[in-house]
Amino acid sequence: MRKQIVAGNWKMNNDLAQTQALLTDLQKQTQTSNAEVMIAPAFTNLYQAFETLKHSNIEVIAQNMHFAESGAYTGEVSANMLKSVGINTVILGHSERREYFNETDESLAKKVDAALEKEMQIIFCFGEQLADRKSGNHENIVEGQIRKALFHLEASSFQNIILAYEPVWAIGTGETATPEQAQDMHAFIRQTLEDKYGSDVANLVSILYGGSCKPSNAKEIFSNPDVDGGLIGGASLNAEDFYAIVNAF
Ligand code: PGA
Repeated sequence: MRKQIVAGNWKMNNDLAQTQALLTDLQKQTQTSNAEVMIAPAFTNLYQAFETLKHSNIEVIAQNMHFAESGAYTGEVSANMLKSVGINTVILGHSERREYFNETDESLAKKVDAALEKEMQIIFCFGEQLADRKSGNHENIVEGQIRKALFHLEASSFQNIILAYEPVWAIGTGETATPEQAQDMHAFIRQTLEDKYGSDVANLVSILYGGSCKPSNAKEIFSNPDVDGGLIGGASLNAEDFYAIVNAF
């Protein structure tokens, strides 16, 4: 059985006090689904979040990391640093990292290798721009992103990889992919994995949807056979909304 996962990406939101308030709210929520729940606060609040939630069902994860182990990379954070504060999962390749911080499939391949080397789990994000969708090129774009960043890996590495399809035109815009668009793309991604690695790997990897996922649309999106959960931005900043999504399975 593939894991169902709902992960909240807090992005650059919440200072220390706001983080503590949201953590407290999250702990008051009741989970009725079997989904694995994750939240990704800012780097400065990871340790506090880990300490607060370490006996809960919520895993604290990071939004990014550098590929080097240590050294002269001002402003960056390594896998070892994350692990030393209890973090074992990292989001890589978010479209905002690609757009504003020049991350490429090639640099992401290095981050993927560095995370796997440290036995971290990865949520690897990718997705097409609106122009790609309009021109009908979305599958090619997505296949290229996956191939360039991940297809140098051995099949066994996929035990530690979660994929997150996030069409850029749906992130933070209020515009969601339709359930059919999500299912079609997720099935295409799974087929792409199967073509390269076989059906065991393809059936093992959880593929999350991200992009304006909210309590009102989560159930419909998650009910598709190839959608194994969501990566949630805006709606993860409110504990009730986030748990309405967690419980949408
Ligand atoms: P959103 O963000 O839910 O606010 O659209 C999703 C994401 O960026 O992961």
